[in-house]
Amino acid sequence: MNHDRWIEDKIAQLRQDNLWRSLRSIESIPLGRATIDGKEIVLLGSNNYLGLSAHPQVIEAANNALTEFGTGSSGSRLTTGNLNLYTKLERKIASLKQTEAAIVFSSGYLANIGVIPALAVEGDLILSDELNHASIIDGCRLSKARKSIYLHSDLNHLEHLLKDASGYQHRWIITDGIFSMDGDIASLPDIYDLACQYNARLIVDDAHGLGILGKKGSGTVEHFGLSQNQDIIQTGTLSKAVGGLGGYVAASKNLVELLINQARSFIFSTGLPPATLAAATTAVDIIRSCASVRQNLLKNAQNLQNALLQNGFDFLPNETQIIPLIIGPAKQALHFSEVLFEHGVYAPAIRPPTVPEGTSRLRMSVIASHTENDIKKVIQALIASRTAVDKLH
Ligand SMILES: Cc1ncc(COP(=O)(O)O)c(C=O)c1O
Repeated sequence: MNHDRWIEDKIAQLRQDNLWRSLRSIESIPLGRATIDGKEIVLLGSNNYLGLSAHPQVIEAANNALTEFGTGSSGSRLTTGNLNLYTKLERKIASLKQTEAAIVFSSGYLANIGVIPALAVEGDLILSDELNHASIIDGCRLSKARKSIYLHSDLNHLEHLLKDASGYQHRWIITDGIFSMDGDIASLPDIYDLACQYNARLIVDDAHGLGILGKKGSGTVEHFGLSQNQDIIQTGTLSKAVGGLGGYVAASKNLVELLINQARSFIFSTGLPPATLAAATTAVDIIRSCASVRQNLLKNAQNLQNALLQNGFDFLPNETQIIPLIIGPAKQALHFSEVLFEHGVYAPAIRPPTVPEGTSRLRMSVIASHTENDIKKVIQALIASRTAVDKLH
């Protein structure tokens, strides 16, 4: 009897639907270029936006912590894993975010699946944007609150749902700051106004905004001049512009204390390795002072968007580093990505359930160290791939 028959069937179904995913090994530091399958390619789609994973000061800080503290933290933070390196990192995050306090989780995913069920409990209502990241969706699933999904960035719909939301103990509005697969920025001032008007609390996941938006790189809340509004709860990750690993929640002292006591993904998971904490602390410092790198990143994004426009590509224009090239069916997106790779550019195909059905895409994100030549190469490769793919249809 074949006990794994159901697994084989499941795999066959995923393959048939063009939703099968497989891993691709990167053989060098993933910056603007990387080596894959022994071939140097231009890498689009990386979240190492500022290149900080390879910054000499960040590496030095990690090396020093490795030598001083060893490789692991030895336990969950409430037991033996709370290395003093955490205090420094959390102070730096709170200072950058201009919040009273911050708390570090072991990833952004863990931050979201911890904070949402810890705050939004039975008797509450969560209002969540339909394009929010999977970690928010999973956090909502873990929460005992009632959930309502509002149409993407549709303030009328959000207000309509808020108007109907009587009888709940607390109302929570949750949104990505920069949407991870579309690259657009949530209209935070309007959402915050609605939150105030209808007595709701706003949670912003700024995974892709930290390091990029705002004069100090603090993210979308700073970008919109909302940092003084201490009731906004900010979550995010240290794995993208910060260049390492970890997640955070930046909020009031009391809220952070509550999370230490109630967020299950915080309580029941081991603390981060010392080198990771030290690297992130140095990277957050660098973020404050690297306005020119940020500008370069956004200039690269604009240059790529201009070239896409000139060459008739169908993409969603925006002001950020994430540029989605919408292809449509999963099969075609996959094929386009493969052909593009043959032309020396790697931009992963993003398919359902990461994006809605029929909107499979190449998620192209630029990083600060991409050169004009890299952007030119990307455009040439896109044109060549489009021709090759069109010939097949
Ligand atoms: C919007 C958003 N939130 C949270 C996460 C999760 O962060 P991490 O990779 O640190 O788990 C991501 C990363 O993919 C993201 O894009």
